[in-house]
Amino acid sequence: TRSVVLGCGSYLPERILTNAELAAKVDTSDEWIVQRTGIKQRHIAAEGEFTSHLAIKAAQAALDDAGIDAQSIDLIVLATSTPDNTFPATAVAVQAALGIHHGAAFDLQAVCSGFVFAVATADNFLRGGSFKRALVIGAETFSRILDWNDRGTCVLFGDGAGAVVLEAQQGWGTSVDRGVLTTHLRSDGRHKSKLYVDGGPSSTGTVGHLRMEGREVFKHAVGMITGVIIDAFEASGTTPKDIDWFVPHQANKRIIDASAHKLHLAPEKVVLTVDRHGNTSAASIPLALDTAVKDGRIKKGNLVLLEAMGGGFTWGSALVRW
Ligand code: ACO
Repeated sequence: TRSVVLGCGSYLPERILTNAELAAKVDTSDEWIVQRTGIKQRHIAAEGEFTSHLAIKAAQAALDDAGIDAQSIDLIVLATSTPDNTFPATAVAVQAALGIHHGAAFDLQAVCSGFVFAVATADNFLRGGSFKRALVIGAETFSRILDWNDRGTCVLFGDGAGAVVLEAQQGWGTSVDRGVLTTHLRSDGRHKSKLYVDGGPSSTGTVGHLRMEGREVFKHAVGMITGVIIDAFEASGTTPKDIDWFVPHQANKRIIDASAHKLHLAPEKVVLTVDRHGNTSAASIPLALDTAVKDGRIKKGNLVLLEAMGGGFTWGSALVRW
């Protein structure tokens, strides 16, 4: 059994916040942000526009792309660190909005690695036979947890959502050559204070703001990312030459370039959206996937390598035959 991709979709809030607008609020510049991160703009959710609203639009787009009815979905795994509420899970808001009353829906929290963790989780449930069709969603409104006076972090993030539909397919033949081939997940809580939110229901009773030691994150990122990708190559018997598209978590162009270079992945195989989306945490990979599928780059049968690293630290890779 393989978890085969049936479709994908994404949604970005209308409002675009440019570097120039940010430079009018905090002591920064377009040059600094572009040079250090590659980010030129990001989308920001409107007042009253919640993570679930972005997720529902991305999920509906993915269902339309797959050409299937919402009623055939029996599992929703939604990766987010910015849920609508502490509980219930944002996934059940999506489930209700889609009119689904069967199966299971839950959130998963692995910060920027959330989508890779969610794909791995759904894949295991599908291959294990517990569910048949899954919506895997990454959705975030990081604008709500940013300290807009901290120039070291507020310039980096944006809001958005993306989703894929996975289906358990059995048997021999061309269909099962496609699908999720391997997933590798890692975490190391010794790094938990390098990137965190200084609030929460149990500690402060407040929502809190994102805090980050940017240099420390940068220092660990490339090694962790390349390590878990090498694990994917070894487990699947593939090499960098076999990869058609590298779709990394979009945190920072310098981290992506350095990782691709170290792995000998050609720059023209790298899907980049960080310039337009900023870092949308768990949403960045499905947003980038949907961008590259809809503009015709990623085609059925392509070998697609996903990778992410984020708070925790958490990191992971997924190799998918699209
Ligand atoms: N505009 C202008 N100057 C700034 C800004 C800004 N927005 N932010 C920081 N600076 C200043 C600092 O105050 C510092 O000034 P000083 O030398 O006078 O003290 C100077 O720029 C250098 O600061 P550093 O933090 O050392 O800059 P660095 O080159 O490391 O770049 C950055 C900062 C972009 C955050 C970088 O460390 C980075 O990309 N880290 C990775 C973090 C990341 O991507 N996190 C995303 C979440 S985790 C994930 O998704 C993988």
